[in-house]
Amino acid sequence: MLADQPNLTTADAERIARDHFGVAGRATLLTGERDQNFLIEAPDRRIVLKLPNRKESLEMITAQQDALTHLSTRLSVTPAVIASIDGDVVVSVDEPGGSRCFAWAITWLEGTAFAGARRRSPELWRDFGRTIGVLDRALADFDHPAIHRHFHWDLAQAREVLESYRPLLAGDAILAPIDTLLAEFETHTAPLLETLPRSAIHSDLNDHNVLVGDGTSVEERDQRVTGVFDFGDMVYSYRVGDLAIAGAYAMLGAREPMDVIREIVRGFSNEITLTSDELASLYGLICLRLCVSVAIAAEQTRQRARDAYLSVSQVAIREILPKLAEIPFKLAEALIREAAGAVAVPASEKVTAYLERQSGFAPVIGMDLRAEPSIVLDLSIASPMLSGDTRENTEPSVTTAVFDAMRDANVRVSIGRYDEPRLLYVAPAFALGPRPTDEHRTIHIGLDLFAVAGTPVFAPLDGVVHAFCDNNTPQDYGPVIILRHETDDGVEFFTLYGHLSRESLVGLEVGRDVRAGEQIATLGTPEVNVGWSPHLHLQIITDLIGLGTDFPGVARPSQRSVWCALCPDPNLLTRIPNDRFPATAPTKDETLVARRAAIGRNLSIAYRDPVKVVRGCKQYLYDDTGRCFIDAYNNVPHVGHCHPHVVEAAASQMRVLNTNTRYLNDLLETYAERLLSTLPGALDVCYFLNSASEANELALRLSRAYTGARDIVVLDAAYHGNTTSLIDISPYKHAGPGGQGAPNWVHSAPLPDVYRGAHRGANAGSLYADEVGAIIDEITRGGGRLSSFIAETCPSVGGQLMLPGRYLSKVYEHVRRAGGVCIADEVQTGLGRMGTSFWAFEDHRVVPDIVVMGKPLGNGHPIGAVATTRAIADAFDNGMEFFSTFGGNTVSCAVGIAVLDVIREEGLQEHARVVGEELLTKLRGLSDRYPIVGDVRGSGLFLGVELVRSRDTLEPAGEEASFVSNRMRERGILLGTDGPYHNVVKIRPPMPFNSENAEELVVAFDDSLAELPVRTPLS
Ligand SMILES: Cc1ncc(COP(=O)(O)O)c(C=O)c1O
Repeated sequence: MLADQPNLTTADAERIARDHFGVAGRATLLTGERDQNFLIEAPDRRIVLKLPNRKESLEMITAQQDALTHLSTRLSVTPAVIASIDGDVVVSVDEPGGSRCFAWAITWLEGTAFAGARRRSPELWRDFGRTIGVLDRALADFDHPAIHRHFHWDLAQAREVLESYRPLLAGDAILAPIDTLLAEFETHTAPLLETLPRSAIHSDLNDHNVLVGDGTSVEERDQRVTGVFDFGDMVYSYRVGDLAIAGAYAMLGAREPMDVIREIVRGFSNEITLTSDELASLYGLICLRLCVSVAIAAEQTRQRARDAYLSVSQVAIREILPKLAEIPFKLAEALIREAAGAVAVPASEKVTAYLERQSGFAPVIGMDLRAEPSIVLDLSIASPMLSGDTRENTEPSVTTAVFDAMRDANVRVSIGRYDEPRLLYVAPAFALGPRPTDEHRTIHIGLDLFAVAGTPVFAPLDGVVHAFCDNNTPQDYGPVIILRHETDDGVEFFTLYGHLSRESLVGLEVGRDVRAGEQIATLGTPEVNVGWSPHLHLQIITDLIGLGTDFPGVARPSQRSVWCALCPDPNLLTRIPNDRFPATAPTKDETLVARRAAIGRNLSIAYRDPVKVVRGCKQYLYDDTGRCFIDAYNNVPHVGHCHPHVVEAAASQMRVLNTNTRYLNDLLETYAERLLSTLPGALDVCYFLNSASEANELALRLSRAYTGARDIVVLDAAYHGNTTSLIDISPYKHAGPGGQGAPNWVHSAPLPDVYRGAHRGANAGSLYADEVGAIIDEITRGGGRLSSFIAETCPSVGGQLMLPGRYLSKVYEHVRRAGGVCIADEVQTGLGRMGTSFWAFEDHRVVPDIVVMGKPLGNGHPIGAVATTRAIADAFDNGMEFFSTFGGNTVSCAVGIAVLDVIREEGLQEHARVVGEELLTKLRGLSDRYPIVGDVRGSGLFLGVELVRSRDTLEPAGEEASFVSNRMRERGILLGTDGPYHNVVKIRPPMPFNSENAEELVVAFDDSLAELPVRTPLS
């Protein structure tokens, strides 16, 4: 408690509210640093009673009140002043101990404190920025003498405040980043301050003074700013100050501080157009605010060591300052300018225009690339030239591929594109974090000219040697030279030449003049070039932003346009004809539009923000910018996306023969034998098709042929395929939206769900099985005859269920007693996914009469299969020929065999068991902390997390499950939701999914659950 902070009790507050403001209610003390504020809750209204710090002048209170009144006619997010019973807006009241203090009252704003908002989405930051813009626009024509004051939180006075408290930080490690930031501030920001527009500002838009609310859906709740209060720090200062202060606090704790700032600036700029100087000074002022906060905290700690409130944001500030000190101010400025809708790098436009005006330049590698035959390489994410495994795309494989392509095309030079996303950069320096899903620098912002080592390099235009060095860490430039140039109206720019020979640097001097056409270097060998193929990396740089020879040649996708502005297209110098470059791939939005136009709308697309994938490898998928996602959902690429053994099997067989089953070929029999060898001996006949739907169709025909009956028992919520008959036997479809119900030959049995179903105990399996028995009895009683019972061995769209013990064995008994056959749909669960068995039914100690297989069989190549008994196959062989054009074709068989090989050779079943157990245990740990996690179940890499709003009622949390799946996607992990209520998060990754991935998934799951909105009371 500050010496001058009023010291009233809640009883005092209740009395003052009643006697002076006519509001009789219960008082609760609110957190406050300088003043005492109470929430007064009366039956009909809620107000805030404010007891200002005794040092607060009456003028400053009046200024706040005038501002609130001014704002109340202009916006809807600020509180209104409440007059006392006597019509005064401020009253003087007694304090214990005989002193007096002021009291005034304002309306209570509904909402959650921004500080308590669990999810801080880009939309929320933009709305925050927009609100600040609206507020500052409304304050533009407000003024009051009291806000022209000396105030230590005023950014305009911050440097003096820092200077005076600086001795308190002596010996504190935080001084290093503070000094770095202050030095940058003096160079970049200080010279602009004098001319910055000034205005009345709120001056304390930290997240304790802002409320969020609104939105009815889980996704949208609390994603809008609904209130701004506490105008006690108002001051007449830099107009951009509110944005700077808000930004400073908003970025605390953020993984990417600049991302937060940019969203806020984006929103703000819809309301107010900032001047160039304001945009240029914003980052400096943000940093200054945090530095001054550290200094003031040091001073306040000295005064009152035990006050906890003071340290609320200090930990986060001390954490972020070193990070901020690493961001070049000029880069921050360009990022901010772009977010504000301004030209990111104004000099870039001038340089580009200047270079465009020139008729040509000296050939940079001695060949005039306007006429020289050349090929433009595709080194993009989807490039077929590159291996699927990104780690293999370093030397020598790329060199070989590039130089092979040049030899085939009979050219001396090939071109690597500018602004091309690439997966070539695997050295740690390109990753922004240790995890595969962390952002990686992938965007190539130079132009590559591949030619033999020793090729001379010439200056394309007059310049001066600005810098050079040998950057010899892996995948860096190797020997590199930077030349400095000027446009005809004196705008400075640079050209960078990377991957040179070491001799190129011998005798070079900074400041030496270089003439256009003068040889400056030769291309280095891979040994000198820290691994790269001989090529020149040519880059134009319009602002070195203080980075010198460390200036990157590859940029982050999230900052792509800004880095491309800093570094315009080097083809301005080389003038390679445009028609040599392939058309650029459609953007994600263009792809979406084209898809909507050409493809049926009920072919749904996953996630609120769809993912455009262009490459897969193992358990990873890559989008068109090179962003890596962990695929925790797709069970089709069973042995890993694009597994080289499977790819090779398909490609080599495709080159030799691909035909149908009307001819003899050993691959068909081999594959059938290999597949049957994984199944119980009774299942000794195989059929091949192209999808699981076709396989289930065939299973229906087989069972009808064998039994001469048609009636079938299926499970509620089951899905077996997309054909007309399979929709009939899939309650998930025929009983869902657009469905027409079950035909009379289809009978649904309850899902044997031991979590939310009717039977849960040890006997559940038998009880559920008896329900199937009862349905069969009813069919028979009604004169019908049972053909079959079909079920997935672990119902997947049914919610990743594990069938209870004794269920299948008892059901099979009932079915067989009635003359029916038992069909196991193992489409989702087969090939070792469960970890404990190769086929899930083995865990239930049953042998089905027909087993249907699909999805993972071909690792993405379309293969479906049915295995059955000789007796059933013979019954089907009734004279009508069976034929599937593509089923069992030679390539499919080669692929199927390759998949079985990989499962065995890589021990994937055991791997799934071990990793699955780890994942299950970790996910179960989450249920201790999150009541919404109702059930975690599964086996191997077939898992489900069921979310419920209440563990008592088991009310399904479907919206929340979708929220979690979308947040996981944002974090780079792909999974989906399923179950009759869509409340089960489904985890079913390609089998190479490993322990590290499991750990990352659980951390992201934890973080996503933590973001689920809950109403927190305002403190
Ligand atoms: C259990 C089950 N059976 C059959 C199918 C149909 O498979 P396909 O789409 O390959 O025809 C699916 C597809 O999701 C399935 O999950």
